[in-house]
Amino acid sequence: MAEVHVVILAGGKGTRMKSARPKVLHRLAGLPLVEHVLATAVAIQPRSISIVIGHEASRVREALARHAGLSFVVQEPQLGTAHALLTTEPLLEGASGTLVLLSGDVPLLTPKTLQTLVDRHGSTHAAATVVTAIVGNPHGYGRIVRNGQEIARIVEEKDATAVEREICEINSGIYAFELEGLFDAVRGIAAENAQREYYLPDLVAIFRRQGKHVDTVTVANAAEIEGVNSRAELAALTRQARAQKTTELMAAGVTIEDPATAYVDRDVSVGADTVLHPNVSLEGTTSIGRGVEIYGGVRIVNSTVGDNVTILDHCVISHSHIAAGASLGPFAHLRNSVEIGEGAHIGNFVELKKTTFGAGSKAGHLAYLGDSTIGEKVNIGAGTITCNYDGEKKNPTIIEDGAFIGSDSQLVAPVTIGRGAYVGSGSTIRESVPPASLAVSAGKQRNIENWVEKRKKRDPGA
Ligand code: UD1
Ligand code: CA
Repeated sequence: MAEVHVVILAGGKGTRMKSARPKVLHRLAGLPLVEHVLATAVAIQPRSISIVIGHEASRVREALARHAGLSFVVQEPQLGTAHALLTTEPLLEGASGTLVLLSGDVPLLTPKTLQTLVDRHGSTHAAATVVTAIVGNPHGYGRIVRNGQEIARIVEEKDATAVEREICEINSGIYAFELEGLFDAVRGIAAENAQREYYLPDLVAIFRRQGKHVDTVTVANAAEIEGVNSRAELAALTRQARAQKTTELMAAGVTIEDPATAYVDRDVSVGADTVLHPNVSLEGTTSIGRGVEIYGGVRIVNSTVGDNVTILDHCVISHSHIAAGASLGPFAHLRNSVEIGEGAHIGNFVELKKTTFGAGSKAGHLAYLGDSTIGEKVNIGAGTITCNYDGEKKNPTIIEDGAFIGSDSQLVAPVTIGRGAYVGSGSTIRESVPPASLAVSAGKQRNIENWVEKRKKRDPGA
């Protein structure tokens, strides 16, 4: 097998996005477009991956910084796709075999199709192999002009004649090239066209003039090679990617009541017999166990949810871990490293931040628990607030196993409530409570009898 090297073009501005953000960093199913392309490239295990950056180069480079082994080259100014490829010549010095060229704005290409391209190219000894598709609406794409069976050249939308614009076979912008002689041929490309750019697709006509063989691979599913050039195209491809993800999940035993409103990012996993009700968003690296029930309006980001958890409507959960059998919501908010123990319950309008909440503990209503460590089988009454912020820093609250916090209590941190202790309703706790004791801070209640009558006499208008 010949060596395979990949080049990803990600230097263009993406003018049609009308965005301050470089096009290849716009997100599709939770990941920047270029990340999708990179994942496909990595899947075929090439010898090298080079990425051409240009517009907002440092932002693109930074977005990909977590990946090891990538080579970047800055294309400045950006004079077209042929010019972009030419900038990689120094990186590929000494390389031989096949160069696969991918576009940073074509996110849904599958590794399977890419492997087919590489295999086909390797077996035909063509100078270039172009991935094409037949589409209903070819507007905006380069058209494949054939001479009989053979591809003769590619013409861009803006340079095409009316007759050429009728052609429905399009250039995907994905190619395999024989590296030997490639850059010399690219240098032969001129910018004599409507956009005054150096067009890489012009290579096809150049090779054909030289009598070299140019081959094509036509994909069955055109969505795989659709590019993102506008927000509308981004939305259309996002729908495609989502549909693919929900189809996979359903095939693996997940019930999705309304796939059209299930927003599940690419890297999310969901166990069998889990039910997603309408309008659920599962984002980032979230992992959901088996037999979980997730109701409408729930958003879960970079979190793990154990088996048989129930999450009622409108909860927001980020960077948190929920153990098996817990129940949450409606309207609960868990953020910034929350750990919920097995079988625990977090109810209506409860917010947790950086808090460990032990197995079997309950906070049913209206509470804020921040920077706290809460043991097992603890009962948090309605309206409990951990006063974790003293105006300068955050302080911890510790509530040990079996403690009972009466409703409407404030726990002024740093403070510890001992094992099995009780806090009376309406208390403001400023000092730690020893185990197994009762703390009450409110004064003794006074009842003033006949007060209403007396007030009426004093002020008849009241
Ligand atoms: C390109 C093809 C077109 C094909 C389409 C498929 C050309 C001239 N045309 O058109 O035949 O149908 O893709 O999606 O190649 N880029 C750079 N530097 C540049 C210019 C572009 O890195 O100077 C990058 C862009 O960031 C993008 C990719 O190359 O990722 C394609 O560029 P784009 O301008 O989107 O080309 P299209 O007009 O879509
Ligand atoms: Ca494009």
